[in-house]
Amino acid sequence: MSKKTTGHRAEPDTTGHSWDGIEEYNNPLPRWWLWTFYATIIWGIAYTIAYPAWPLVNSATRGLLGQNTRADVAAEIARFEAANAPIEARLVAADLDAIKDDPELNNFAQNAGGAVFRTWCAQCHGSGAQGARGYPNLNDNDWLWGGTLEDIHTTVTHGIRNSTDPDARYSEMPRFGADGLLEPEQISQVVEYVLQISGQDHDAALAAEGATVFAENCAACHGEDGTGDRAVGAPNLTDRIWLYGGDRAAITETVTYARLGVMPAWAGRLSEADIRAVSVWVHSRGGGE
Ligand code: HEC
Ligand code: HEC
Repeated sequence: MSKKTTGHRAEPDTTGHSWDGIEEYNNPLPRWWLWTFYATIIWGIAYTIAYPAWPLVNSATRGLLGQNTRADVAAEIARFEAANAPIEARLVAADLDAIKDDPELNNFAQNAGGAVFRTWCAQCHGSGAQGARGYPNLNDNDWLWGGTLEDIHTTVTHGIRNSTDPDARYSEMPRFGADGLLEPEQISQVVEYVLQISGQDHDAALAAEGATVFAENCAACHGEDGTGDRAVGAPNLTDRIWLYGGDRAAITETVTYARLGVMPAWAGRLSEADIRAVSVWVHSRGGGE
């Protein structure tokens, strides 16, 4: 391959690199490119002086402009808190049962309560409060500890069976099997009885024996008729709603080992306004009494 030359222009230098006979010219960089390149360097240095940039051991350079995104967020939050402060004060001062009669207060509680729920409660009770195994559905009218606004407010404030709040709701179903309080035979009898009173397939002979076991060991909490007792958070065993499962295996496991569900107390973690808001929200979900 021959080089093309003109009479006027001298052949530029090459870098000496050559690939398959293709040589690399050693042309100077275009001016516009070079100046843009220098400008970006200057811009970069100026930027790191003006804004927080260089990492130090425990922090970073502050930047001359004093810009701080954390402070911006904190200021935004403070602005919203200040804006909400008057209505939150009204929410805290109001009689619980009067909240729903005040449209403005109720509207605020619903919105704030939904947000509190999605942040703090959904991970256990589900995003729509529908619950999951071991975590009660809060949309229905089947309540362990009571479904009035007052009851819900107490449950949320103090929690259930936690070790942090002395006023937490508390009760302890015995571990009938694990602690040897009932013989395995008696357990299968009482399980058949629970299947019977909840309207499921059961062994009638065993269930008849189980009725006595139930009256002696279970009725104190679950009621003579098995419909439960909210004073001790004992669920109704005659309906089709189960916290831990209503088949033979699940009931046997519950009676053998007990379950002892725990919910944290929210007093101290959430403000009273937030606790009231989320209680109003839960109460309005359809099961509120
Ligand atoms: C760590 C999981 C967890 C979180 C988070 C949680 N709960 Fe619970 N909650 C439970 C459990 C478990 C129970 C049932 C305990 C029992 O067996 O009595 C329960 C029960 C309840 C009850 C009583 C239901 C009834 O039938 O009486 C209400 C009301 C309730 N939770 C509301 C809330 C609200 C509101 C929040 C958020 C502020 C919340 N929970 C956050 C686990 C949780
Ligand atoms: C000291 C009170 C107490 C006694 C006694 C008691 N229970 Fe319970 N039981 C509870 C409580 C409270 C729960 C709620 C679950 C929990 O512990 O989280 C429960 C839950 C259950 C459940 C689960 C219901 C569901 O929805 O999944 C079954 C089944 C059950 N009990 C059966 C019995 C039987 C059968 C006996 C008697 C052999 C008995 N219990 C005795 C308090 C009691």
